[in-house]
Amino acid sequence: MEPLLSVDEGSKENMHVPEQTETPVPRTLTQQELDRLGAEQTLVSNFKLMKLEQEAQKNWDLFYKRNTTNFFKDRHWTTREFEELKACREFESQKLVLLEAGCGGGNCIFPLLEEDLNIFVYACDFSPRAVDFVKQNPLYCPERCCAFQCDLTKDDLRTNVPEGSVDVITLIFVLSAIHPDKMKMALQNISRVLKPGGMVLFRDYGLYDHAMLRFKAGNKLGENFYVRQDGTRSYFFSKEFLAEIFEDQGFQTITNDYVLRETVNKKEGLCVPRVFLQSKFTKPCVSGSS
Ligand SMILES: C[S@@+](CC[C@H](N)C(=O)[O-])C[C@H]1O[C@@H](n2cnc3c(N)ncnc32)[C@H](O)[C@@H]1O
Repeated sequence: MEPLLSVDEGSKENMHVPEQTETPVPRTLTQQELDRLGAEQTLVSNFKLMKLEQEAQKNWDLFYKRNTTNFFKDRHWTTREFEELKACREFESQKLVLLEAGCGGGNCIFPLLEEDLNIFVYACDFSPRAVDFVKQNPLYCPERCCAFQCDLTKDDLRTNVPEGSVDVITLIFVLSAIHPDKMKMALQNISRVLKPGGMVLFRDYGLYDHAMLRFKAGNKLGENFYVRQDGTRSYFFSKEFLAEIFEDQGFQTITNDYVLRETVNKKEGLCVPRVFLQSKFTKPCVSGSS
């Protein structure tokens, strides 16, 4: 079968995660892995591609119906690894406004709200169930957060978030779930609510991540784009592709690096190579983009 989401970054597996390293290139593949990727040429039919696109929201909503909030680990690394969340304050007591785009059940925002009392968080997702989970969290309070349902590729964020009002936008394992042809619409959308000088913090699957290599023929939807058994999709980013789509929408690249890790599943005695892409982009103060 194709990879299960349970090997994804942050899932609640019996894992030990050793130190991570940053590298300018994705990992080198073995001959066996190269052969396997080369053999994966079968693409699914146009009918199935369209159906998956039409049912993307339903499939993520069903994911949360099955897994509730129990799937992803709380992402406590967000503040540790994205120092900009604090560093972009001009003065210490400044309230930061954050948007978590594709927030899921809130595993990224609630640790942040606990750690930093001086932030306001907008959180959106296109799964209504995920948004409900966020609203039901005991840490959710309207004075400090506003969660709403939204398809980042279609629904104008300005309906819920004032234009140019957000200091930091986090995109954590969400752009990979969007069809590559629609990623630029999502980036245009977030750009409108980001302040000039504001920052986008990105972390997602990198090219040749273990999850990509586990997909079988029949799961390939396009270049570096795959479908899981539950109908949710995943793109695996090269740093060049990511920089290009951000820069095309008027962002400037600050950092853009592969992060290599080894995930050890103690229960199964497996050690698997993970590749993530961690990047920061800024919206220039003087910009032609709307
Ligand atoms: C892998 S989960 C990551 C959730 C969360 N960011 C985290 O780190 O735990 C991907 C999320 O993206 C959401 N998503 C996928 N496509 C979307 C779209 N077009 N608009 C808004 N959210 C989307 C899914 O519903 C899902 O909650």
